[in-house]
Amino acid sequence: MNVLIAYASTEGQTRKIANFIADRIQRRGHKAKVFDTSSTLQDADVNEFDKVILAGSVHQQKHQNCLEIYVAAKRKKLDARPTLFVSVSLAAAFTDTQHEAKRYMNEFLSELGWQPSRMLAVAGAVRHDEYGYYREQILEHVVLDGIHLDDVREDREFTDWRALASAVDEFVSTGTC
Ligand SMILES: Cc1cc2nc3c(=O)[nH]c(=O)nc-3n(C[C@H](O)[C@H](O)[C@H](O)COP(=O)(O)O)c2cc1C
Repeated sequence: MNVLIAYASTEGQTRKIANFIADRIQRRGHKAKVFDTSSTLQDADVNEFDKVILAGSVHQQKHQNCLEIYVAAKRKKLDARPTLFVSVSLAAAFTDTQHEAKRYMNEFLSELGWQPSRMLAVAGAVRHDEYGYYREQILEHVVLDGIHLDDVREDREFTDWRALASAVDEFVSTGTC
């Protein structure tokens, strides 16, 4: 089986997740290609793949534009094969905000009028080195508002790699479309 993982990442966590997924698939004896949807120099021909994973992260309640454009442009080909939509956010990290993570996914899908075969909300990370002053302020006072972290200034990775690996295994091993 040949799987395409098309992703968008602003600070790097979704890129890390896309590479982890590719590695997991390859360890299971399949082929996997990682494609950055922000790339304007290359394209990935969906026709070459049996299944496609689309991954993006949430910033100020929205997924990246380049992921949206990629899905819109490849829509017919995506609809013809099993797809998994992976949405990375901090809302997915906490029980009290998981409904927001679902809302971000549903808004992305309804704007596109697209229905993937499967969806997965994945908890992201906090990486202060990647933020400038304004993004730092948004993260601290908007995104993490009301969420208790021991130290909001510390880098933290919330991604549950084990849960992600089993969701990927399940997607790859079943024939859902
Ligand atoms: C400026 C900024 C805005 C963010 N907005 C949201 C948000 O609205 N909701 C949310 O759940 N997470 C939000 N996040 C958290 C990101 O989704 C999280 O850090 C994720 O790991 C980023 O993935 P990336 O590194 O692939 O871009 C925000 C992060 C930053 C820095």
